[in-house]
Amino acid sequence: MATTKKVRVAIVGLGFGAEFIPIYQAHPNAEMYALCRRNRAELDKCGDRYRIAKRYTDYNELLKDPDVDAVHINSPIPDHAPQSLAALRAGKHVACTVPMGTSVEECRQLVEAQRQTGKVYMMMETVVYSREYLFARELYDKGELGRIQFLRGSHQQDMDGWPDYWPGLPPMWYATHCVSPCLAILSQPGKPAHAESVVCHGSGRIREDLIKRYNSPFAIETATFKVRGSDVVAEVTRSLFDTARQYRESFDVTGSKKSFEWQQVENEEPVIHTKSSAAKPIPEPEIPKRVKVPDYARLLPEPIRRFTQPAAIQDADHLSFLQGGGHGGSHPHLAHNFLMAVLGEQPAFPDAATSANWTMVGICAHESAMRGGARVAIPEL
Ligand SMILES: NC(=O)c1ccc[n+]([C@@H]2O[C@H](COP(=O)([O-])OP(=O)(O)OC[C@H]3O[C@@H](n4cnc5c(N)ncnc54)[C@H](O)[C@@H]3O)[C@@H](O)[C@H]2O)c1
Repeated sequence: MATTKKVRVAIVGLGFGAEFIPIYQAHPNAEMYALCRRNRAELDKCGDRYRIAKRYTDYNELLKDPDVDAVHINSPIPDHAPQSLAALRAGKHVACTVPMGTSVEECRQLVEAQRQTGKVYMMMETVVYSREYLFARELYDKGELGRIQFLRGSHQQDMDGWPDYWPGLPPMWYATHCVSPCLAILSQPGKPAHAESVVCHGSGRIREDLIKRYNSPFAIETATFKVRGSDVVAEVTRSLFDTARQYRESFDVTGSKKSFEWQQVENEEPVIHTKSSAAKPIPEPEIPKRVKVPDYARLLPEPIRRFTQPAAIQDADHLSFLQGGGHGGSHPHLAHNFLMAVLGEQPAFPDAATSANWTMVGICAHESAMRGGARVAIPEL
């Protein structure tokens, strides 16, 4: 029988973070207990809208509240690691939006803190719960793709005009959306695939005023990484500034029997290429076929199934737009997996060590680009 226990959740950061409030409110194993945001007026606006009484403007005060079981952090990137560490050390379970941190040292400290405290740490990576990823995974598990021969991820976004921690950010410091599906699809339960080393090249140059902040000159960073214990190599590409490209989060799996290629232009359906053979020849123009990706709401408890559709979050949240259009229906899957991990029903995916590996691929890739494409080993934590 499904557990009836409830986890008392606090959400920290109410931009993107607010999109998760109605999901926790509807989840049978969550109590959407507290909100935290520094701006009092905005905090109250959100608290009133969702009728959440416990409100904190000071994160450290929130951590002192013994009734908080778990924090879900959606603050700006530089705060992710320090806030996650403080929460683990305060005895809270932690869900944190991507990336885990911005240095290898931060990732190391978080993995150690998670092990020492025994609390759950989960990086809330949307792509590995998107319907496109879940579909590719299903094809692979059924044997339809055959042997995986190559993987490719790309995440391109124009971040002009975004909050002050973005301008000039090294593209690979936020690479988990393109790295994670490549490693997740090679993972088996209890046996996560981790990257071993990375080679990255920086290309082009962004505006001089943007370069100064992080001393990162490149418009595009593109990397290949080796997967430990596997003959598969993956390639990932990132851009954030001064690059003409519609938003793209994409993931391709090249298989020996079939290959899956995610979206190239928004709202275009993905494509499956099928290998022609002498026994079953396929005329060249018929090798690629567009495919409608199904929804995976059926994997979720009934009360949160509707949240795989962006419109449901918009209705519940009165939002005029959702960041990333709801990220492939991933939000309720993320909240559900985190709650189940806290309740000991299933492991967090990604757990702390895997979150660190996915994050460090990008950190080490940027280091490689800054060193002219030198191979950088990714520390094993
Ligand atoms: N697909 C994804 O996984 C995805 C999508 C969107 C955003 N994100 C991540 O979510 C995070 C937030 O994104 P956003 O666009 O909402 O950013 P934002 O800068 O608009 O919002 C940050 C929020 O955090 C709050 N905040 C800042 N410092 C705080 C502190 N010390 N204590 C409590 N609250 C604090 C702010 O008041 C604000 O509500 C970013 O790190 C971003 O990388 C991930």
